[in-house]
Amino acid sequence: MPPRDTPRVRVGRKSTTREPIIQEADAPQVHEAEAAEPEATRREAGVTESSRANRGWWDRNADEYQSEHGTFLGDDRFVWGPEGLDEVEAELLGPAEELKGKDVLELGAGAAQCSRWLAGQGARPVALDISHRQLQHALRIGASFPLVCADAVALPFADASFDLACSAYGALPFVADPRLVLREVHRVLRPGGRLVFSVTHPIRWAFPDEPGPEGLSVSASYFDRTPYVEQDEQGRAVYVEHHRTLGDRVRDVVASGFRLVDLVEPEWPSWNTGEWGGWSPLRGSLIPGTAIFVCVRD
Ligand SMILES: C[S@@+](CC[C@H](N)C(=O)[O-])C[C@H]1O[C@@H](n2cnc3c(N)ncnc32)[C@H](O)[C@@H]1O
Repeated sequence: MPPRDTPRVRVGRKSTTREPIIQEADAPQVHEAEAAEPEATRREAGVTESSRANRGWWDRNADEYQSEHGTFLGDDRFVWGPEGLDEVEAELLGPAEELKGKDVLELGAGAAQCSRWLAGQGARPVALDISHRQLQHALRIGASFPLVCADAVALPFADASFDLACSAYGALPFVADPRLVLREVHRVLRPGGRLVFSVTHPIRWAFPDEPGPEGLSVSASYFDRTPYVEQDEQGRAVYVEHHRTLGDRVRDVVASGFRLVDLVEPEWPSWNTGEWGGWSPLRGSLIPGTAIFVCVRD
């Protein structure tokens, strides 16, 4: 069993009240309904196991995710993370007026709210996600551009098909080998194309995934890359997140053929009084929650 303070940096989970049961060695018996909950642990999980687990998890939890976060995300806004940084102000993909006519690939698009915003600027987005149910939510809110259900580690597109690629917490935190994704994105981007992606800020892995004061004390090694896994009673992974240090992420980007031109760590704004799992105004005022990588394919 992992220690009770196993880092939980679950982008998908909605709140600490629905934590998986982590049984202590001497814990009292849990009743049957609780015993069916997944066990949270840290163990290795490969490319195939991670994709299979996350496809299932997002299919099962897409409805709840959209119900919980849909209002904050907005049906046609481009929000980079729980801080609420909006592409309208950030312009990490470039000035909005230059998006018109651009072919843009969104990875791990979820309900494709970001792609809807891009379409509103005159861009031609393609929204890709491994979860069929997430993409059904894209249809529900009115996506009128291609939706592709596929794993980001093997993109079903020809070389040099896109001018831009983007991802707001999609795919990259969940794959066992992010270089597979980055090399694929490099392949499908045209020379000079830009990739911008946000992930959980790596420092968060050293802290418990709690929004309150209990989330402010280091409880694990930042350098421990062992994946966070929730598994069923047979030991099958049902949810996986992978940790890379900041240096690992930079090396992944560069080794995949990109030039890193900016690394944005959005500060928690005073207007945002909401919480998103372990992301909160309290923690956001002290440590970064999101890292956004701005990369160019030369
Ligand atoms: C935290 S959600 C982000 C969705 C959207 N960008 C948003 O901000 O709501 C992560 C998304 O990544 C998708 N995902 C996870 N692993 C993936 C993979 N290997 N390939 C493509 N999408 C993946 C999930 O299905 C999910 O929709």
